[in-house]
Amino acid sequence: MTTLRPGRDSDAEALIALIWACWSQYPGVKMDVDGEMPELRALASYYTAKSGALWVAEAPDGAIEGMIATCPHSDSAWEICRVYVSPALHGSGLGHRLLDTAEAHAIASGATRLVLWSNTRFDRAHRFYENRSYVRSGPIRVLNDISRSLEYAYAKPVDRIEALDTAATASAEPRLSAILAACVEEGAGVYFLPPLPRATARGFWQAAARDVAAGSKIVLGGWAGGVLGGTVTLAFSPAQNQPHCASVAKLLVDPACRRHGLARRLMERVEQEARAAGRVLLTLETRQGDPAETLYRAMGWREVGSIPGYALMPDGRYDTTVFFWKRLDTE
Ligand SMILES: CC(C)(COP(=O)(O)OP(=O)(O)OC[C@H]1O[C@@H](n2cnc3c(N)ncnc32)[C@H](O)[C@@H]1OP(=O)(O)O)[C@@H](O)C(=O)NCCC(=O)NCCS
Repeated sequence: MTTLRPGRDSDAEALIALIWACWSQYPGVKMDVDGEMPELRALASYYTAKSGALWVAEAPDGAIEGMIATCPHSDSAWEICRVYVSPALHGSGLGHRLLDTAEAHAIASGATRLVLWSNTRFDRAHRFYENRSYVRSGPIRVLNDISRSLEYAYAKPVDRIEALDTAATASAEPRLSAILAACVEEGAGVYFLPPLPRATARGFWQAAARDVAAGSKIVLGGWAGGVLGGTVTLAFSPAQNQPHCASVAKLLVDPACRRHGLARRLMERVEQEARAAGRVLLTLETRQGDPAETLYRAMGWREVGSIPGYALMPDGRYDTTVFFWKRLDTE
């Protein structure tokens, strides 16, 4: 069994070999340790000096199979760095163990936000970070190194609701699709019937990202414990005579993240965003009897009425949908 232990300066040779084993899988990536990364010669001391920490994954025979580091970045954000797993162990879960360890350390040290940079060539790593609830954040960083590297910035809050811009929405697609699929799978009345094909879910969120780019939607993400666990979308009415109107669709919380107030916080924030955009008359609909109905009533949404047989259910029945509205400028 591979164990995780704090890294030591004496691990230098093994860590350099591990990083090169990962980099050499991608064409065009070059390594000049003494010219560009002299800190690798004593990486434990380097992170100690930055008030951070370094871990390595060690096999029973002493071989170094993985590494990760974290250190304070700015304000209360911590950076996750040097995430490398031996190519033979890609997909084994070791990357998750390493990231769990580094994230837990950063959060226990007071991090409210986690950031990282990843070479634009490392597409497999991007999927890993996206599945771990990181989203693209800000512009691409240009490194003037011998590999001519470009880097994506990824970030996630630990416990916060945030509006996702276009790049963040597109990169959140794997998590948002997983949340949507889990809600559809349990029979929630949210557009689709189970089973929800992966490509359909992806297409749904890619369309949402395009709408965010066009300025016709605001997509919110809700993180709890570093997990992107919920989302809600505000869709502006396109009608010329409804510049003050928008609809809320759909509020989704991953079944694994329920009953911790995430939906309520998403709804509070979506109302703030609507107010800020001058959309003061909101509408939404939900299936009669869903937990969401209780939430909407508790938050002051007023029922317009209900339509029997409005939504097809997975079991072939047609169910009643309740319509709600809320005015934000007269509260
Ligand atoms: C509805 C949903 C978003 C609630 O998410 P959540 O994060 O668990 O909700 P919260 O923890 O913020 O709870 C908010 C309130 O909702 C109500 N509520 C949530 N789950 C409930 C349940 N299982 N039974 C009864 N009421 C429930 C309660 O009033 C709760 O307030 P309380 O905890 O003070 O009692 C979630 O169940 C979901 O995603 N369902 C599937 C998708 C769906 O139907 N979305 C609505 C589309 S219109």
